[in-house]
Order: sequence, then C-alpha cells, then structure tokens
Amino acid sequence: MTCPAGFTLMPSGQAKSPPQRLLVTGGAGFIGSHTCLVLLEAGRELVVLDDFSNSCGESLRRVVELAGGDAAERLLVLEGDVREAKDLEQAFEAFGPGGSIEAVVHFAGLKAVGESVAEPLRYWDVNVGGTVRLLEAMAAHGCRTLVFSSSATVYGMPERVPIPETAPIQPINPYGQTKVAEEHLLADLRAADDGRGRSGWRLACLRYFNPVGAHPSGRIGEDPLGVPSNLFPLISQVALGRRDCLPVFGDDWPTADGTGERDFIHVMDLAEGHLAALDHLHQGEPQLLTLNLGSGQGHTVRQVVAAYEEASGQSVPVRVEARREGDAARSVADPDAAARSLGWCCRRGLVEMCRDSWHWQRQNPEGYRT
Ligand SMILES: NC(=O)c1ccc[n+]([C@@H]2O[C@H](COP(=O)([O-])OP(=O)(O)OC[C@H]3O[C@@H](n4cnc5c(N)ncnc54)[C@H](O)[C@@H]3O)[C@@H](O)[C@H]2O)c1
Repeated sequence: MTCPAGFTLMPSGQAKSPPQRLLVTGGAGFIGSHTCLVLLEAGRELVVLDDFSNSCGESLRRVVELAGGDAAERLLVLEGDVREAKDLEQAFEAFGPGGSIEAVVHFAGLKAVGESVAEPLRYWDVNVGGTVRLLEAMAAHGCRTLVFSSSATVYGMPERVPIPETAPIQPINPYGQTKVAEEHLLADLRAADDGRGRSGWRLACLRYFNPVGAHPSGRIGEDPLGVPSNLFPLISQVALGRRDCLPVFGDDWPTADGTGERDFIHVMDLAEGHLAALDHLHQGEPQLLTLNLGSGQGHTVRQVVAAYEEASGQSVPVRVEARREGDAARSVADPDAAARSLGWCCRRGLVEMCRDSWHWQRQNPEGYRT
C-alpha cells in the first residue's frame, strides 16, 4: 500500500529533536506493548504505568528482548493505577531529578463494549476518571504533550463510508460514550486559556479502527483474558482447534457477501502511527489533532476467514447467527487526514495481518501463559 500524495515532510535540518522520555500508560497491553517496541527501537526512554488488570509483565519482558541492545535500561515498568495520584507521581519522578517526562501515550483503559453496558460506572471511572487524573498530573509536572487512544466507536452507526473525522459523533454504548467524553475533555483543555492566550497543550486523539495482527516474530500479540469478543482472536482459536466454529452475526448485510465489513489495521502500523503522532506534535504549534488511524480498506468477515485459512493452512468453519443489535454493516476509515498531517499510512495488508496473528497464536496457544 502507498501513502496518498500531499503529506508534508519536515525538511532535514529544521527538525527539533524528538521527545526522548515518555510515559506510556497501559503499555503492557496489546497495542501498548507493540508501541513500546516501536518507541524503544526509535531510541526513546520509557516508563510504563500499568495495573496489569488486562495484561502481564511478560509482554514487556519480550518487548525488551525484541528491541535488544540497551533496551532493558531504557524501559522502566511500574505497577500502578492511572486513577491513583501517588502512582502517577512515581511515574513522573521515575527518571529522577532532571529526567522529566516530555510526553505521554495513554493506552490505559477498559475496552469491552458488552462489559461497558453491564458496568458503566467502572468504565466511566477508569476511562474518564483515569484520564482526568493523568491530565492533572501532567499539568502539575509541566508535561503538555499527549497521544490518546480514541476509537472508531465514537462514530456509532456511520451514515456512510469511508468515514472522515468530520462525520457525526454518535456513540451507541457506554464504552463509546467514555471515549467521546475523553475527547471533549481534551478539547476543553486545548481551549483553556493559560493567561497568555494559549493553553500550550499538544494533544492527539487517535481514532483506531480494528487493530489486529501481531509482531512478525510471533513473540508479542493479543492475549485476551477469557472468551475473546474480537474477530481475529476468535478466528485464531478456531484455526487452532480450541473452538468448533466462528459465529458470524448476520449474512444479509448490504455488503459484497452479506457479512459485516470492517477496516482492519495491523497493530505494527498502528504502533508506528503513535510514533509519527508524537513527533508531529513535538514539531508543531500547540494543537488538538483528531485523526482516524485505519487502512481505508474494508474486508468482510468471510474475506477475513478465507485469508486466515490461506495463512494458517487450517479450516475455519463458520456458523451464521442473527445480526447483533448495535452492529453496523460497514465501518471503514477515511485515512487521508493522518497521511497528510503525519506522513503516515498503513504498510501491511490482510495477508500480513492473518500471517502474523497465526504466527503468534500458534507459538503461544495459551497467550503469555504458554
Ligand atoms: N483493541 C482495540 O480494538 C481498540 C480499538 C480502539 C481503541 N482502543 C483503545 O486503545 C487502548 C489500548 O487498547 P488495547 O487493545 O491495547 O487494550 P489492552 O486491554 O490490551 O491494554 C490496556 C492496558 O491498560 C491497562 N489498564 C487498564 N486499566 C488500568 C488502570 N486503571 N491503570 C493502569 N493500567 C490500566 C491494562 O492492564 C492493559 O495492560 C484502550 O484505551 C482502548 O480503549 C482499542
């Protein structure tokens, strides 16, 4: 895949040196661990704050192993909660005097739609409450650069695809509501006057579409606790023989083959998007940047199943069930704004997504507990 033309590149010689010391909240999780690897490979120093409620330290141990060299000296891991001021204080002080954190990448949060319907208070507390506490700590430490994990879920049932960032924001579940609330919070912060007419915050809301795949080594990947709710982990468990068949919710949608169509993005492309966003924020004026991170390509469930069967050499039987309430027929990003402003685009396609997911799952049938 190629980047659409028209993005801007910083002429060499004008670039400010990129932020070196970063706080990564939720860095042990699926997207966080792959992003930590990309950041370490780019020479950054990281402190990860994670409560391991949906991850384990093994992911970061493997990240260090993959990054090699002196990576172990450039990654500090703290077990703690983003809602706890004392844990945040420890994170901001982790590099000692003179070692201030220059930017934050904020992954920590809860992400299961069904769970958010059953436990809205917990979702608002962790997602919105956690972000408020984090921003307070950032302000107290003079750190005003943040890359935030938002989601395509803010678009709810999109009226048309591909979806630009200007599409209506209409979340249809508590998880989506928390992401919208966090986006509003960042907009308010950006607008707040610091007495000199500008707030000084550099903020990026990255709306991810459907992150899938794994690092090509198969050493790190997605390790959901309990029964997976996302397509790729379910397919991979069927391919492994741990589940009989894949439930497909509706085959009468207005798509090429009747099954739902989504924009899948390889997690390594997504991780690289965070590095691009951090460096872009650092170079530019204070701003709030809201961008879709997606491939711009839609694939139906049946197309994904066929590609996974090809990649794994295993058969993936499906069982068609009724449509689920709240599902959309199609959800595909318009990724042009990210290409224009970050000079970033997806480089990996469905074949790599399936190959790398299978590679991870086959080597780690029980995830990090293997
Ligand atoms: N995976 C997706 O499909 C997807 C799509 C869109 C947006 N997002 C968002 O991206 C972010 C990362 O998602 P992921 O897929 O890597 O999820 P993940 O669950 O694998 O990672 C989240 C990490 O945050 C940690 N965490 C949770 N609550 C915490 C707390 N209170 N304090 C400290 N750490 C805490 C978890 O232990 C975990 O390591 C989330 O904010 C999610 O909402 C994910």
